[in-house]
Amino acid sequence: MDKLKIVANGALNGEIVISGAKNAALPLMCAGLLSSGTLRLKNVPMLADVKTTQKLLQGMGARVLTDNISEFEINGSTVNNTCAPYDLVRTMRASILVLGPTLARFGKAQVSLPGGCAIGARPVDQHLKGLEAMGAEIVIEHGYVKASAPDGKLKGTRIHMDMVTVGGTENLLMAATLAEGTTILENCAVEPEIVDLAECLIKMGAKIQGVGTRTLTIEGVSELHGCEHSVIPDRIEAGTFLCAVAATGGKVLLRNAAPKTMEVVLDKLVQMGAVIEAGSDWISIDMQQRPKAIDLTVDVHPDFPTDMQAQFMAVNAIAEGESQITETIFENRFMHVPELNRMGANISVKGNTAMIVGVDKLSGANVMATDLRASASLIIAALVAEGETVINRIYHLDRGYENIEAKLGGVGAKIERIR
Ligand code: UD1
Repeated sequence: MDKLKIVANGALNGEIVISGAKNAALPLMCAGLLSSGTLRLKNVPMLADVKTTQKLLQGMGARVLTDNISEFEINGSTVNNTCAPYDLVRTMRASILVLGPTLARFGKAQVSLPGGCAIGARPVDQHLKGLEAMGAEIVIEHGYVKASAPDGKLKGTRIHMDMVTVGGTENLLMAATLAEGTTILENCAVEPEIVDLAECLIKMGAKIQGVGTRTLTIEGVSELHGCEHSVIPDRIEAGTFLCAVAATGGKVLLRNAAPKTMEVVLDKLVQMGAVIEAGSDWISIDMQQRPKAIDLTVDVHPDFPTDMQAQFMAVNAIAEGESQITETIFENRFMHVPELNRMGANISVKGNTAMIVGVDKLSGANVMATDLRASASLIIAALVAEGETVINRIYHLDRGYENIEAKLGGVGAKIERIR
């Protein structure tokens, strides 16, 4: 199993090109199931989760072509299987996103229940409740969600989601594009990745109003067509590199970034002492001091993203002062804490709040990556720790970061993949 070996090498300096957003690419690929035309996606990151989605779509009969660099062509005209099997779904929770499009287009779908994952229970009740409101009959049998639309079509209706859910909003939005009549989705998530999906669906012929707000109104159409769409830049990848520089010091320019999608994160970095400048598609960070500890509370967009919580915790761990980080989205997203403490951090957890006392230095150790963003926090800690750090189980990292060792190596980090 691959590991990462990292030895602190001082400040990071140079340029990094940001990849397309994983969390936008996955739902966009699933949207390919909605039409018999060809969906051309550009700026797709080549990640393990993207490959899993490719396999999932191919398993359902879709034609999927890729240049293995950054482009995908998905053609849904040959889809002949409406089942998403356990083997693929279990490795990637986002597989549930094939449910809405498949049910809407073919009147039936069968998707393995994703089940729990390390960071929390993560049920899909809101996805199912919304589809039922649109007339779907749903049973859970043998670990599968089996859904059918009585006369082959979902029906538009008003749906109020009990909580703000990214995947739930995406699934119901996609389903509503092909439903009969008008669907009003209330209490929607407004993450930039949802805006990206809505914009692509509109290019495919969907009629959607309220994009970027908590209420989406979708007038169903009888069919969608293909289109070309470029995936938005990954705000979490960009934020992770900015945190790395906040910890090590230095001056780095991020290209192909989307600063408008990450304003809260940039504000927090400024509070930590970083000098941030940004244009429409670039961000620069200049960090010439020890970071100052900052408090933060995670919440749904436009507030601070849960996917950046672990990385900021790593910076706070070596910052000047004490801080608190409160997680409100996932109940078990502090698994990086014991690993950071093994490297000399001083972090304690009470309920959903972590108390961090900044230490002068961390020391390299053998640590275990427990989930995607937790792995990123261990990399940041390792970049400033004395001695050598070996991060085990980095398959988590490969799910969400494209060429991370090459990108960090390019700005001066001593980081190498070992087996
Ligand atoms: C997406 C992101 C993930 C990010 C998360 C929150 C993708 C592929 N993944 O995950 O990186 O961390 O948003 O920003 O885009 N919930 C329910 N019932 C539901 C749906 C959700 O109780 O039907 C709960 C979840 O357990 C969780 C919270 O709502 O506690 C938020 O989940 P959700 O926004 O749906 O996250 P994902 O779409 O799974």
